[in-house]
Parts: sequence; C-alpha cells; structure tokens
Amino acid sequence: MDSGPFPILNQKIFGKRLVYLDNAATTQKPQVVIDAIKQFYETSNANIHRGIHHLAEKSTMAYESSRETVARFIGAETDEIVFTSGTTHSLNMLVQMLGKNLHPGDEIVLTMMEHHSNLIPWQEMAREKELIVKFIPLTADYTLDLQKARELITAKTKVLAFTHVSNTLGTINPAAELIALAHAQGALAVVDVAQSVGHLPLNVRQLDCDFLAFSGHKMCGPLGIGVLYGKKDLLINLEPAFFGGGMVEDVSSEVGKALWLAPPQRFEAGTPPIAGAIGLARAVDFLEKQGLKQIEAHCTLLREYAIKELKKIPRLNIIGPEQGGIGIISFTLEVIHPHDVAEILNREGIAVRAGHHCTIPLMKELGLADGTTRASFYLYNTIEDVDALVAGIRKVQEVFR
Ligand code: ALA
Repeated sequence: MDSGPFPILNQKIFGKRLVYLDNAATTQKPQVVIDAIKQFYETSNANIHRGIHHLAEKSTMAYESSRETVARFIGAETDEIVFTSGTTHSLNMLVQMLGKNLHPGDEIVLTMMEHHSNLIPWQEMAREKELIVKFIPLTADYTLDLQKARELITAKTKVLAFTHVSNTLGTINPAAELIALAHAQGALAVVDVAQSVGHLPLNVRQLDCDFLAFSGHKMCGPLGIGVLYGKKDLLINLEPAFFGGGMVEDVSSEVGKALWLAPPQRFEAGTPPIAGAIGLARAVDFLEKQGLKQIEAHCTLLREYAIKELKKIPRLNIIGPEQGGIGIISFTLEVIHPHDVAEILNREGIAVRAGHHCTIPLMKELGLADGTTRASFYLYNTIEDVDALVAGIRKVQEVFR
C-alpha cells in the first residue's frame, strides 16, 4: 500500500536497506505525525486547563479535540477516553482502581498469552487482596481453549482481562465472544488492544468491552501516549488511582474531603502528555485515510506470504497459528539462539525482536526457555521486506552450519 513518507525508513543500516520488522514493539512515525508534534511545540505549547492566556487556550483546545478524534476512532464517547502514558500505565491504573472494590476469594481470569503488563498488575493486586488468578490455556494450534474458558469463567469471576492479539504469537482472540462469556457471569471485561488497534477496525460498542487499553506508539503515534477507555457508567463510579493537579473540584485541609472532577479529568492528575495526544490524533487521521480494513488485509497478506516462505526453510518452527494471525510471526531456528538470529539479521539491516517478548509464562508453557525470534509487519512493509527476512534467515543458518 502507498503509506506516504516515513522518514526513518530511508536510511541504511550497515550499508543495507533498513527492513523494519519490529512493529509489535513500536511502529515508525509518518511525516504528518512528526510535523504535528513539531508544530505544537513551535506554535501552541502551554499547559492545559490552567491558564487564561491565549496559548493555554490553544493547547487545551488541541488536546481536547484530540480526545474527540480518538473517541470517534474506537466508537466511544469523548469523556470515556482517559489519556495515559501507554498500555502499561492504563492497565496498572485500572487494576488499582478496580482493586478497591475486590475482596478475598474474588476470581480474575486471564489467558496464558498475556503480556506482563496485563498479568503482573493483577498478580500484585491478587497478593494484596487475596484474589484468585486463573488462566485460560492454549490449544495445540496456539489459540485459546474456549471450552476451558467457559469452565473457568463462573459466577465467582469478577474480571476477565485478555489480550485481543498476542504480541508473541499473533493469535487474534475472539474478543466479542469472550466478553459475552464474562458478561453472562456478571464479570467485567477488560481488553488489551495494544497489538490490534490501528491494525484492524475496532469499535468498543460492538465489542461491548467494559475497559480497553492501548498505546499510541504502536499505531504510528508518538511514544508516551496511551488510552484507557471505560464505559461512562463504570468510570463515574471509580475512585482515581493518582492524585494531584487538574483532577479535583474542591480540596480542603481535612482528610477525605477532596471532591473529584467528572471523568475523564478525574483520572488525569498532573500535566498530561499533550503533544502526545495531538500526535496520536494525527496518527488516527493518517490511519483512517489509509483505511483500517486495508491495513488489516495488507498485514494479513504479508503474514500469509511470510509463513508460506518460512515453511520452506528447514529446521524452522513457526510458533503461532498458521492462519488468522495479524502481522506477527514468531519462530525458532533449531539450535540457534534467538539473540544470535536477531544479531545476524541486524547486520543485514533487518530489525526483529528476539527473546521472551514480555510473555515469560507463555514461553515457559511452550517450553521455549530462550524465547523466539519475532517479525512483525505494518502498513509500510512490503513483500520485498519478507523476502529480505527469508534471505537473512538462510544466511543465519549458513553462519551456524
Ligand atoms: N509489548 C511490546 C512488544 O511486544 C514492547 O515488543
């Protein structure tokens, strides 16, 4: 697809064309996003919601209009969008807030493929509140065992939290079906869409999720901006996890007398990532112009082609579903450590990620102590990039022959 200029991609690494296949870690930024951030600092920089002066007003308007853009993008209402610094911040904050209403013996259901950011916060809350954490296991084809999910999600379940797309396997989980299972038992459904938002069309009303978290930087937006979406009637009943300026209606010197502002300001204590929000809104405009369906089709096609070509390589094992993945492929090369694979590919100008991908329990479950090598595609990647990866892997095998 013609995705326009991404200046960073026009460079050579060790004299080779840069082939950037680490998009699940972070995506590159189009010129329009870089320009929007630059323009903000050159013309509008001021703190929001605080000043009466012209720049403060301009900055506040740009920040709040970015919230509208992001809300529309995922089918939410504007005041259901809380800006954070990223998925990890969103999920930690949410766990802290939900945790206040959880009690010993309450059950949290996660999946075996969670990123640490949707795992450790729940485990820490479980330790504090004596909660029980259960995991939906995987089937042999790296998808979730839905039969087991039906057994695990019961009337004792208070929260089901799961990743929409696995950052390690590329598996796309049946989000709407899982959310319906949670709701049928009266549980809240939390979805980590870090790897799916900006890669496929996504609508919170259609999913009917209660909360949803993502980062801007994995969808062409800047680093340091993220979103926590929450249904309005749920957000209004949550106590904030962070406190400071910009989130109170009134405060007194007496303990317990502070009055919170309405959501989303209640959850945005301190100076928020203003330039980040503006950059994220430009990224949304950019992605919508490309078309989310087209991006999904493009990344799916690249993955299918890559799987077809990788399967021709001896002693290479694909770790993830052959079909139905989106843009992410993990693999192992027999007897070659993933870090060695990534280093030799790096010398060829190819950027991939190697290791446990912040999913250590998943790696343990799969018996992959050294982890995997992961290639992940986005809208600017091409068939030639996949061919370069395949040629690079053959080179790795030659080096280790
Ligand atoms: N979660 C990011 C990844 O999978 C950092 O690489």
